[in-house]
Amino acid sequence: MTDELAPIPAATFPLSARSPGKCIVFGEHAVVHGAPELAFAVDLTTQVFVTRGGSMRLNADPEALEHNAYFRAAVEHGWSDRSPVEVRAVSRIPRAAGLGSSAAFVAAITAAFSAAQGGVARPALAQRCFEIEQGAQGVGSPGDTSTVVAGGFVAINGGPGEPLWSIRSTDRRWDVRRVSDPGWVWVVAYSGIPRSTADAVRSVSARLAAPGGPELLEQFRRVATDGISAVERGDRRAVAELLQHNQVLLREVGVSHPRLEALIEAAAPAAEAVKLTGAGAGGSVLALPVPGKETELIRRLARAGALPFVVRPTAVGAGLVTV
Ligand code: MEV
Repeated sequence: MTDELAPIPAATFPLSARSPGKCIVFGEHAVVHGAPELAFAVDLTTQVFVTRGGSMRLNADPEALEHNAYFRAAVEHGWSDRSPVEVRAVSRIPRAAGLGSSAAFVAAITAAFSAAQGGVARPALAQRCFEIEQGAQGVGSPGDTSTVVAGGFVAINGGPGEPLWSIRSTDRRWDVRRVSDPGWVWVVAYSGIPRSTADAVRSVSARLAAPGGPELLEQFRRVATDGISAVERGDRRAVAELLQHNQVLLREVGVSHPRLEALIEAAAPAAEAVKLTGAGAGGSVLALPVPGKETELIRRLARAGALPFVVRPTAVGAGLVTV
C-alpha cells in the first residue's frame, strides 16, 4: 500500500480534513451505467474544521441539516454518534461547475467523522462517501468520490492491474484502478452556468434507455477504454482524438450547451482537444492545450466569457490535516 492510500487514522476533536476536487477526462454519464471513466484529482481543495458544539451547525447555520442534503446525508450515514458538532467548510472549488465540489465536501467531512470514530481504511471511506453522495443526489456513480478519496489519476471499470477497491450499490459494482499521470498541463474553463448533476444524469439515463441508447453506451465504453490506454502510454495525439469523439457523444445525449459549444470553438486554435467535463448542461470544459499555447488558450477562453484556469493533478487524496 502506498502512502497516499494509507488509512484515515483515529483522531479526537477538534480536527480538520481536506479533499481535492476532481476533473473527468473520459466517460462521465456513461460511468453511471457501468461503462469506464477516467478522472484525476485536482489541486483545488475543500477543507472542513470539526469540533464539538451545542447544536449541529454548518458554517454557523443551525438549519443546515434541513436545507443541505450533503451535510444531512453525511451526518445520517457517517456520524453514528449523532452528538452535536460544529462544522466549518472552506472551499476553493467552484460550485456546480463539474469539478467535484460536492464529492470533496462529502469526502472531507466523512474523513473527519471517520477519524473521530476510530479511523477507517481508504476502501471503506470510498464506499461510505459514495453512499453519502448518492443518498444526497439520488443518482450517480462512485467516480467522483473514489477519485477524490484516491487522489491522482483513477480509472473506474477499466485500466491496468489490480483494483485499489471496488464500490458496490444494490445492483452494480465499479472497480477502481490507478492510472499513471502523463504529466500534462490541463486547462479547465467554467462557463458560469451552474447546473444540477441529478437532472443531467436523469436526462442522459432516459436517452440511453431509448432506442439506440445501448449502441451509444457501447460507443462511450469504447472511447473511454481506448482513452484510458492512450493516457497510460502517454499518447497525446490519440488522447486528443478520443476527447473530441467523447464530446460528440456527450452532445448526442443532450448534455452540451450553446455556451460550452462557443467555448469549444473559441479554444480550438490553441487546443489539441476540448470537451465538457462533469455533468455538462453548463458547468465546465476541459482542454488539452497545444504545447506552448497555454497562455493563448487561457486568453481565448477568458475573452469568450469563461473563467479559465490551469488545473494541476494532485496525487494526494482526502485526508486529515494536522494543525
Ligand atoms: C458528475 O461529476 C459525473 C457524472 O457521471 C455523474 C456521476 O458519475 O455520478 C455525470
